[in-house]
Amino acid sequence: MKARSIFPGLLIAAAALTGAAFFVSCTHEKVPVSAERTEQDRYANGEYMVRIAGCNDCHTAGYPEAGGDVPVEKWLTGSPLGWRGPWGTTYASNLRLLIASVTEEEWVGMAHNTKWLPPMPWYILRDMKESDLTDIYYFVKALGPAGEPMPRYLPPDQNPEGPYVEFPGGF
Ligand code: HEC
Repeated sequence: MKARSIFPGLLIAAAALTGAAFFVSCTHEKVPVSAERTEQDRYANGEYMVRIAGCNDCHTAGYPEAGGDVPVEKWLTGSPLGWRGPWGTTYASNLRLLIASVTEEEWVGMAHNTKWLPPMPWYILRDMKESDLTDIYYFVKALGPAGEPMPRYLPPDQNPEGPYVEFPGGF
C-alpha cells in the first residue's frame, strides 16, 4: 500500500526534475524499434521461421528422423518421398532451387496466393507476415541453390516409382 502511494509521487518528481530530457530520452528509446533491420537480423529470423514453421519436416530429406540435426547447408533441398492420396502424388520440392530463381516480390506473391496440394500446409504461408516471408527469402537466398529438382507431381492414376506415403481416403 505504501509503495502505491509513493510511486506516482516519485514519477512526477522524476518528470519535473528532468523536464525536457525526460521526453527526449523517451523518444530516443523508441529509435531501435523502427530502425532498419540488419542483414544478420533477417538471416537469423529467416532461419528461425523455417525451423519453427516446420518447413524442414517435409522439404529436407531425413530431417524428422535426425531430430532436426541436419546442417543448415542441406536444408530445403527437397525430399524424394512421395505423398499419395486422392489428389495424386506430390513431392516436397527443392526450395533452394525455387528461391534462387524468383524475385522477393514473386516469392511473397506465390506464398500468399497459392493453394498447393496436400500435404503442403499452404495456409501457413498465406497467413505469414510479409516481413517473415521476406526474411525466409533472404535466408534461403543466402544459403544459395543446392541439390537436385525433386520428382514431378503424378496424377492419381499413376504409380510412383520411388518410396511414398499413402493417405487412406485423404484428409
Ligand atoms: C507436411 C509436409 C510439408 C510441410 C510441413 C511443408 N511443405 Fe511445402 N510442400 C510440400 C509438398 C508435398 C509440396 C508439393 C505440393 C504440390 O505439388 O502442389 C510443397 C510445395 C511447396 C512449395 C511450392 C514449390 C514449387 O516448386 O512450386 C513451396 C513454396 C513450399 N512448399 C514452401 C514451404 C514452406 C516455406 C514451408 C514451411 C512453412 C513448407 N513448405 C512446409 C510439403 C510440405
